[in-house]
Amino acid sequence: MSIPRILLTRRWPDEVQKYLSERYDVTLNERDVLPGPDELRSALSSYDAVCPTVTDKLSAAILEAAAGRVKILGNYGVGVSHIDTAACQRLGITVTNTPDVLTGPTAEIAVTLMLMVARGAGAGEREIRNHTWAGWGPMRNLGADVSGRTLGLIGFGRIGQATALKAHRGFGMRILYFSSRRAAAEIEAHTGAVYCPALEALLAESDFVSLHCPGGAVNRHLIDARRLSLMKRTAFLINTARGEVVDERALARALRAGTIAGAGLDVYEHEPEVPAELLGLENVVLLPHLGSATLETRTAMGMRVARNLASFFAGEVPPDRVV
Ligand code: 8YV
Repeated sequence: MSIPRILLTRRWPDEVQKYLSERYDVTLNERDVLPGPDELRSALSSYDAVCPTVTDKLSAAILEAAAGRVKILGNYGVGVSHIDTAACQRLGITVTNTPDVLTGPTAEIAVTLMLMVARGAGAGEREIRNHTWAGWGPMRNLGADVSGRTLGLIGFGRIGQATALKAHRGFGMRILYFSSRRAAAEIEAHTGAVYCPALEALLAESDFVSLHCPGGAVNRHLIDARRLSLMKRTAFLINTARGEVVDERALARALRAGTIAGAGLDVYEHEPEVPAELLGLENVVLLPHLGSATLETRTAMGMRVARNLASFFAGEVPPDRVV
C-alpha cells in the first residue's frame, strides 16, 4: 500500500506532528484555521485518515455526501459526540478515540470547578481585578465547605471514577454515582463510591452533582428545569462532560432564582458561544473547555491517535476503536 494520506484538522503539539510527518504523508494545519463544512467534506474524499477534534462537526449529511476515500477518523479526544458514529458504521468508516491519557487532567478540572464555585473563587477574583474588594470581613465572601460533603456523579467511566477518587481521598467526600451499569465491587471499594440506581435520588441527596456521561442525542438536556428543581438549594452543578447534557437556559434561570447555589462549567452546548444569561451571573464559574488542556496531555492524546493509525494501517483492529 502507498503511504497513507492523513489530515490533522487542527494544529497539534510539535512532537506529535513531527512523529506523524516522519511516517505518513501528513497535511498539517500550522495556522490552526478552523475547517468549515466544505473543507471537511473535501477532506473525507481525499485523505485515507482524517483526525478531527471536538470542533469538527461530522454529521451524517457531511459523511454521506463526502465519504469515499476516508477509511478512519482518528479522533483527537475521548468524546465522539461531534461525529455521527451510526453513519460511520453504515459507511464502513472506522472511528477511534483517545481514552486514559486525559482522565486525570479532566478529573482535576472537575475538582477545580467544585472548589472554585463552592469557595467563590471566581467572584472573589473578579472583585480584586475590578477594584471592588472592600477587604476582609467576618461575613464577607462566604462560600460553602467542600470537605465531607456528598458528591453525586452522573456517569461513572474513567473520568467519573478518577474524580471520585480525588474527592473521596483528598476531601473525604461521600460519593454516590448513577450509571447505566453498576461498576465492579473493587472499583466501588477503591473509589469509595456507592451506586445509586435512581437519578432523582442522587440529585436530591448530593451537595455537588458532577456530570461524566457522554454527550450526544441520548443525553441532550438530561439536566433540565425539572431535574434542577430536584437538587438541594445549597447544591452545585459541575459539567466537564459535554455542554448539551445541560439545558443552559434552564440552568441560568435556576441560578438566578436560587433553585441551586451555583454551577461550574467547562463545556457548552454551542462552543465557543456561552449564553449571555450565564455570563452575568456571579454564582457560576466558566472555564474554556480546559479538561485536557496541558501540553503533556495533548501530546499523549496525539501519540494515542498515532498508535491507532499505526495499527489500523497494519491491518489490525486499533486499540481505541469506537466504531
Ligand atoms: C478534548 C474532550 O480536548 O477528549 C474530550 O472528549 O472533551 C477534550 O478534553 C477535545 O475533545 C478534543 O477533541
